[in-house]
Amino acid sequence: MTDTVTKTHLEPTEIAPETFLIHDHEGEGTAPVCVALNSMLIRGAEPVVVDTGMAENRDQYFADLFGLVEPEDIRWVFISHDDVDHTGNLNALMDAAPNATLVINWFMTSRMGESLQVPPTRQRWVGDGETLDVGDRALHAVRPPIFDSPTTRGLYDPTTGVYWSSDSFATPMPVPVRSIAELEQEFWLQGIATFDNYVSPWLALVDDARFQATVDRVQALQPTTMAGCHTPAIGATKVAQAIAATRRSPVAEFEPEPDQATLELIQATFAAADA
Ligand SMILES: [Fe+2]
Ligand SMILES: [Fe+2]
Repeated sequence: MTDTVTKTHLEPTEIAPETFLIHDHEGEGTAPVCVALNSMLIRGAEPVVVDTGMAENRDQYFADLFGLVEPEDIRWVFISHDDVDHTGNLNALMDAAPNATLVINWFMTSRMGESLQVPPTRQRWVGDGETLDVGDRALHAVRPPIFDSPTTRGLYDPTTGVYWSSDSFATPMPVPVRSIAELEQEFWLQGIATFDNYVSPWLALVDDARFQATVDRVQALQPTTMAGCHTPAIGATKVAQAIAATRRSPVAEFEPEPDQATLELIQATFAAADA
């Protein structure tokens, strides 16, 4: 079925000086909405790759990334957490980039087990609240308010004001777009509520003051741009709205997750295609 769908390719977007959002997405043409699967490159004195996308997109991902930076110039590969949409090309990229150090943490090595094929001698462990010196700037690892792995750290670049939010500040999209400005406002804000509750179902359990403090922490960074795996770029005029929407997520209404009835509709589509 998916073979008949042509996937839109968005060239990387320069979201801040020498900072590029590398686009991918899933669901286009086969689901009511699609979901971004982005990664990022900070092309400073010591280039930093931030998350590595999905394995099935490897050829396009490498074409996009290596169109911006030579593999041997990549100095750091920062992984926000150990989910497949962030680690899909981790091993392959570390093979292709011989001078890169992998920035993870202890729990990622434990949770990834043998799927992580990078030796400890090429690793650097950076936890929430810690800093990574990358030559011309110091990047801050700051856990976002919404996350689906205990290993999660976002990444803030004080040089540009860009904050990489990993799975936080995420939304589905009707069609693949580069910027939040291209989405209808109400769709976007509802999308944050839905995504937040899918990613972090424990939101319903949290003490609200303690949750708000985690949002305060990101807001205090005063990001000028937010980028994440599952959102179009959130530019300066939209950051405050993204933060405010996230603050409402613990009590927001949201659509129920697709269930068995949805699967049966998908199965019927497959059956019709095979008939
Ligand atoms: Fe995740
Ligand atoms: Fe993710």
